[in-house]
Amino acid sequence: MKKVLFFLIIVRIFSVYLVQTFFSPDEYWQSLEVAHKIIYGYGHLTWEWSQGIRSYLHPVIISILYKILAVLKFDSVDFLVYLPRIFQALLSAYADYRFYNWCNKKKWSLFIVATSWFWFYTGGRTIINSFEASLTTIALSYFPWRSKDENTRFLWIVMFLTYIRPTSALTWAPICIYHLKKSQFSLKDLIIKRYILIGLILSTFLVAIDTFFHGSFVITPLRFFKFNVLNSVGSFYGQHPFHWYLSSGLPAVLGINIIPFSFAALNILKNFNENSVDKVLLSSIGVTLLGYSLLSHKEFRFLLQILPLCLFITANYLSKWSRTKSKFYIWIVATVIFVANVIPAGYLGFVHQQGPLKVVNRLAKIAEKYELEQGKPPYFFFMMPCHSTPYYSHIHVNVTMRFLTCEPPLQNDNKKYIDESEKFYEAPMKWIRTHLPVHPITALPTHIVLYDTLLPKVNDFLSIYKPIDLFFNSDHLVSSRSGRNILLYERVHHEDKTGYLESMP
Ligand SMILES: *[C@@H]1O[C@H](CO)[C@@H](O)[C@H](O)[C@H]1NC(C)=O
Repeated sequence: MKKVLFFLIIVRIFSVYLVQTFFSPDEYWQSLEVAHKIIYGYGHLTWEWSQGIRSYLHPVIISILYKILAVLKFDSVDFLVYLPRIFQALLSAYADYRFYNWCNKKKWSLFIVATSWFWFYTGGRTIINSFEASLTTIALSYFPWRSKDENTRFLWIVMFLTYIRPTSALTWAPICIYHLKKSQFSLKDLIIKRYILIGLILSTFLVAIDTFFHGSFVITPLRFFKFNVLNSVGSFYGQHPFHWYLSSGLPAVLGINIIPFSFAALNILKNFNENSVDKVLLSSIGVTLLGYSLLSHKEFRFLLQILPLCLFITANYLSKWSRTKSKFYIWIVATVIFVANVIPAGYLGFVHQQGPLKVVNRLAKIAEKYELEQGKPPYFFFMMPCHSTPYYSHIHVNVTMRFLTCEPPLQNDNKKYIDESEKFYEAPMKWIRTHLPVHPITALPTHIVLYDTLLPKVNDFLSIYKPIDLFFNSDHLVSSRSGRNILLYERVHHEDKTGYLESMP
């Protein structure tokens, strides 16, 4: 029993050390960065925080870890980067352990959850979706699936999740309806004494936290709803076709497990009149996918919310399937599943998009001693799409930094609005000439970080800089604005031989 938990902890901790790539900006900008600001007084808060649409709870948990490190004087940048990841990895390991229990300790459940490539890739990241996925699993494991069980412990987590991520309601609505229908308690009692009461207690607590950190009274889920659904700010961040989650999202996230999952789903649909846990879970998956498909802003990580449900259905199906199959056959299938998960986990976790973390690691070292050595403070400029790298949480020195912003239109819904990042990429040199005055030259950034694809377009400007480092990033371009390498340039000190300067007015 304890051996299983130990094994899962090893797997998740291992993932923290293996996974060294950049996945989503929110992993840093919506969690670590905010926590860093809370504890150290500097850190960039994106518009989500000035508008009060995110709950502070997750960053506050991370800030507690930071505070402990600060008190113990262990707050070097490496500890600040790794402790929150290890914390999430342990939470994920515990969730996996609960998953295994929820699946009646079936061997397949342990195998499926421990080898899931996407969970390996995200289970040790400080992204709120990973936090949410772990809590979802824990809540599902507490849910009174067996008929005599009347436990409502799971509701605490459900209410909590719905508050910090209102979209969780999509996943939980079908499960809660099932709960209300099957419970022996009267509907009225259940709703008033459990659902509403627990909801109120938790909301009071969470509103208090958010109000305290936000500085004025705020109910973040209401603001979130207003911004994302009513104003459709999300659509500002990329539009995907309606079927994206079914055609790309789910197959990518499940990987090879999409095959047993699809068989399982078809089976459940065929016998839809039978009452089963699978049926409830599949309905929940369906409602979530439908709801998410209607929103224009789509991302792989949003599927973390239903990943545990999908893995449950998959593990359950494989357990039933393997009952009638020979050992040999089972081993072949297990090996195929294993290998097909190891490949994406290894490649995406270790190779693809490794540049952003490497470059900020280098910048942190420069920031530490630049002023001592050069007699002036450094100034880092990220000439890349907005939020391409982690920020102060990975530098941990209050140096001047600047990046190209991409705030959505918050005030007016001006159709012609384009953000700074967009403007920059339309005409890089033009943007630089108007935004980076060269007189005096010392006001220019000391370091420029950019993707190699941008180099030909800003060569003129970089004539007063020299390349000092190159970080491999990826074999494939994610977009035309990313690159195979990330380059780091440093300003040369003398003001001679500067074609760029001469061409300036
Ligand atoms: C960080 O640096 C900025 C700019 O120099 C300064 O205004 C700010 O007070 C500093 N913050 C802290 C917490 O040191």
